[in-house]
Amino acid sequence: MSIIKLHDKYFKSYISEIQIQEAVESVVQKVYADCKDETPIFIGILNGCFMFVADFVREYNGPCEVSFVKLASYQGTNSTGKIKQLVGVNENLEGRTVVILEDIIDTGNTLEEIYKIFEDKKLKQLKIATLFFKPDVFKKELPIDYIGISIPDKFIVGYGLDYDGIGRNYASIYQLTTKPTMKNIVLFGPPGAGKGTQAELLRDKYELIHISTGEVFRFNIKNETELGLLAKSYMDDGNLVPDEVTIKMLKAEVERNADAKGFIFDGFPRTESQAAALDAFLEEKGESINGMVALEVPEDLLVGRLLERGKTSGRSDDQDESKIRNRFNEYNTKTAVLKDYYQAQNKYFGANGVGTIPEITERLCSIFDKI
Ligand code: IMP
Ligand code: MG
Repeated sequence: MSIIKLHDKYFKSYISEIQIQEAVESVVQKVYADCKDETPIFIGILNGCFMFVADFVREYNGPCEVSFVKLASYQGTNSTGKIKQLVGVNENLEGRTVVILEDIIDTGNTLEEIYKIFEDKKLKQLKIATLFFKPDVFKKELPIDYIGISIPDKFIVGYGLDYDGIGRNYASIYQLTTKPTMKNIVLFGPPGAGKGTQAELLRDKYELIHISTGEVFRFNIKNETELGLLAKSYMDDGNLVPDEVTIKMLKAEVERNADAKGFIFDGFPRTESQAAALDAFLEEKGESINGMVALEVPEDLLVGRLLERGKTSGRSDDQDESKIRNRFNEYNTKTAVLKDYYQAQNKYFGANGVGTIPEITERLCSIFDKI
């Protein structure tokens, strides 16, 4: 889900947990078919293999032994080819079937070392299983017996694999990507928090495009675009416009501004599925949501503000306290989900929305500057 930063580099999601699990299962099945009549020794090559080995042996239903060796050879995102150390296998392996479990085979330098090490151990047979394989970089004439997923020559992290020590703990695989160049912000705030005013100030200061869902809807309906007419057909029947249509409209709006420095999304996303669709859409472009910035204002203060506004604005929904409270309830129930969604990605930023307009702008800017 979305883009992550490890040290100085950016990674986008690439292989899901489910795809990994399917690949592990397929490797297990093939190994089992070849080894079911004996007790193989599975040897994992540390550190990267730990998740693969754990999942592999849980899936493997025959008798087996499990052991590990350590051959560290990687620095940064380029294989140095230098094997630094070996924490050896202590078992007597004579006459045994050994299956090496590798997380990834890249140039094959490590594999070559492995073959050398096991050469004089008088094994019955040596088999190699790797979860990931980069065929375009593999330079050796050495057999690889079982391959989970073949991938292009791009650096990956997660599921045990690291970039300079970190990233091993992700359950899915991320792939190296270019630095995102946009600043994309989801702006949130309860009715009356001053979101509209702040959005315009921030749009000008950061040269971002302000996408207000309401405006996008009105624009599409007024201009009778295909999506506008579709949305209208739902609204005319008194139905909610499906997420799918809303998302398409928003995407079209983003595409129309392809050169933008970024976007302030206002009134969107409203549901978790919209948020996930937005993440997926931006990720295809190598971009992501930098954060959800929410104006936090105590409800009682807002009720007062809105009632005050209602005296002069004539907006009927600003004149009745119970109607106002209702709008807050709706806001709180709807946004709670999204707050959790972005918080789970460490992307929720609350800003105190009590104060003068410039004071609040300043608080928002200090968040915008750091995300
Ligand atoms: P090889 O010796 O070039 O085949 O690479 C062996 C080791 O490099 C692997 O065991 C990994 O530790 C590391 N490695 C290769 N490609 C990647 C990658 O895409 N991400 C993380 N580590 C990698
Ligand atoms: Mg390794």
